Amino acid sequence: MINYQDVLNGIYQEVMAMKDRGVPASYIPELANVDINNFALHLKMNSGETYGVGQSTTTFSVQSITKVLALALAASIDNNDILERLDVEPSGHPFNQLALLEVENGIPRNPFINSGAIVISDIIVSAFKNPKQEFLNYVRDITGDNSIDYDLKVAKSEKETGYRNYAAAHLLKSFGNLKNEVNDVLDFYFVQCSLSMTCEQISNAFYMFANRGKCISNVTRLTEQKVKRINAIMLTCGFYDEAGEFAFEVGLPGKSGVGGGIVALLPEHFVISVWSPGLNSRGNSKLGMYALEQFTTKTQLSIF
Ligand code: DON
Repeated sequence: MINYQDVLNGIYQEVMAMKDRGVPASYIPELANVDINNFALHLKMNSGETYGVGQSTTTFSVQSITKVLALALAASIDNNDILERLDVEPSGHPFNQLALLEVENGIPRNPFINSGAIVISDIIVSAFKNPKQEFLNYVRDITGDNSIDYDLKVAKSEKETGYRNYAAAHLLKSFGNLKNEVNDVLDFYFVQCSLSMTCEQISNAFYMFANRGKCISNVTRLTEQKVKRINAIMLTCGFYDEAGEFAFEVGLPGKSGVGGGIVALLPEHFVISVWSPGLNSRGNSKLGMYALEQFTTKTQLSIF
């Protein structure tokens, strides 16, 4: 029997002693102010037990982790639109790179790079009168937690400096792959990314991907086929130009965000969420990657 609390405690002690903690994202000015010494790890087993260390009940900016939840919402609205307007191949490039989008005629490589997530935002903006409220309701609903909210200071901070996202959205529009106005889509996208959650809440939100589409209240929110496909995209595209490294070192489908969060899961077994705001050179949490590698090494639990 594995003592999961002991495993988490051991990882916590090790990472808290580490001096090189990476660098917080600064291209969104509000994220640069976060204390680099924060660290949280939260594990939710399908069997019901939960374990946590560090600040696992402190909120932080979820950023690109929301792209998985937005994809799940969009997939439950109109799956055909997604399949026609996006590809599902790893890009091998940073999340905000634009060159491939130009070469590939406005079809983003996958829904987790920024251009792909902006197409998903467009689908959500088309579907709802109040997309921000609908997305928030969706996240609150799958987690059973009405305290989850946006951090509008972070959204404003990104809007003021989101030049590359404006470039991506304009490029998409020029190729006819954006149905709404650039400003309307990005207004939603920046707010979506500003969602503020704890590691515990993230584990709860992603539970449906480890549980064949049933969320923590046992209601089915996604078909098994869509869960299988979204998990596959997390494995191949969840870490941008570091997706191969994450599969190699950790061996789980997962998703990172520039707020320093990472969520990963083993279908039928568990969801694990980590937060450490310092990023590595590829924009993924430096100690978060290390902690998850240690977790799957010590427990020998991975998809491989
Ligand atoms: O669009 C952006 O650049 C941010 N709102 C999200 C980027 C992000 O989290 C990439 N993930 N590592």
